[in-house]
Amino acid sequence: MGGHVADHAHVRHAAKESSAPIDLASRAHGDPTNFSGAAALPKADLALGLQRHIHEVIEGRSFFDPYAADAVCMRLLLAIAAVQDYFRHERANDRASLLTRLRRALLDLDESDLCDLKIRRFFTDSIRYLETDATAEPLERPGGENELLSPTVRRIPTMLCKETLGYYKWLAKTFQHPGDIVELGSWMGSSTGCLAEGLAQNPDWKGRRIHVYDSFIWRDWMKAYTDDPSLLAANLRAGDSFLEYFCAYIESFRPLIEVHQSVLKSGAEQFALPALQWGGEAISILVMDFAHDRASNEAMWRVFSPSFRSGSTIVVFNQFGNIPAGEVRAFCREKARELVPLHKPPGSAKAFRYQKGAA
Ligand SMILES: C[S@@+](CC[C@H](N)C(=O)[O-])C[C@H]1O[C@@H](n2cnc3c(N)ncnc32)[C@H](O)[C@@H]1O
Repeated sequence: MGGHVADHAHVRHAAKESSAPIDLASRAHGDPTNFSGAAALPKADLALGLQRHIHEVIEGRSFFDPYAADAVCMRLLLAIAAVQDYFRHERANDRASLLTRLRRALLDLDESDLCDLKIRRFFTDSIRYLETDATAEPLERPGGENELLSPTVRRIPTMLCKETLGYYKWLAKTFQHPGDIVELGSWMGSSTGCLAEGLAQNPDWKGRRIHVYDSFIWRDWMKAYTDDPSLLAANLRAGDSFLEYFCAYIESFRPLIEVHQSVLKSGAEQFALPALQWGGEAISILVMDFAHDRASNEAMWRVFSPSFRSGSTIVVFNQFGNIPAGEVRAFCREKARELVPLHKPPGSAKAFRYQKGAA
């Protein structure tokens, strides 16, 4: 078990990158088995309750039943934390012990009184994914761990961990192939600033630009990542545009950036904004950080993949390693002939090199 217990720093980083919004739509439909709003549970109450229970067990006032539903849930949560930790690094040596642990957790679930198909599916999907990962080729070693970010970039609110930010700067600084950078999902511009800072230092820069796409429409879940007092003071409401704040944060990189306030239409969007479009120019790097659902990733692929260049375009899925990103991992697995794993920087992101699928 020890190898899978994330240390505090890792847990904090993982929390920073679990940027996917909560599935409020399905909550609104009142499905009692849909716990996707669990992030909104009063965690402090839960911790206090558990702490009280520990005291009662220690003092002999209560008995801890390791087979009761609450104990099973705790073990399942710890197993999920182990999956989260694995996807942060994807160390091949950790895979076998993680698989053993997940199979045990699945047995635990099946032998318990919990009959929860969603949880069961998470474990069976994770096991299936990891079993077929066993043949994966070793990846190239990414850089970025020593990249220094300027104070300008460091003050931009972010949903990303510092390793991912360093990786983005390194990637933009070192890529050599022709084509512009496309960023899908900039939020306040932290990842954009890293890409811009790297691009400005790239000796092969040759006037290339970063095309940033976002609806720039504020959602309530974004508050959790907002610690800049000036942004807090703006008191943005769901549905407000935050484009002016993005522009202010990335001001010093403006000549490198082309901003597109538009929406990638994947089905459910209600925004009165133009649909995202791409003119067909070659793309050197595409960073996908919109969402972890299959429809968004398929829509991205339809619009942009015709402009990928075989053997050179790098596609980064920023949310790849997040717990709810099973559909991103499945999508990349299905596209395995075109998406060849390239880098695994620490954190949720994973980069692939595009190659034209063999006939
Ligand atoms: C996870 S955040 C990006 C975090 C950012 N990369 C950072 O450095 O902190 C996702 C962003 O994608 C945008 N977004 C999500 N789905 C979108 C869609 N279908 N069309 C346009 N923008 C979208 C949201 O407005 C949000 O700003």
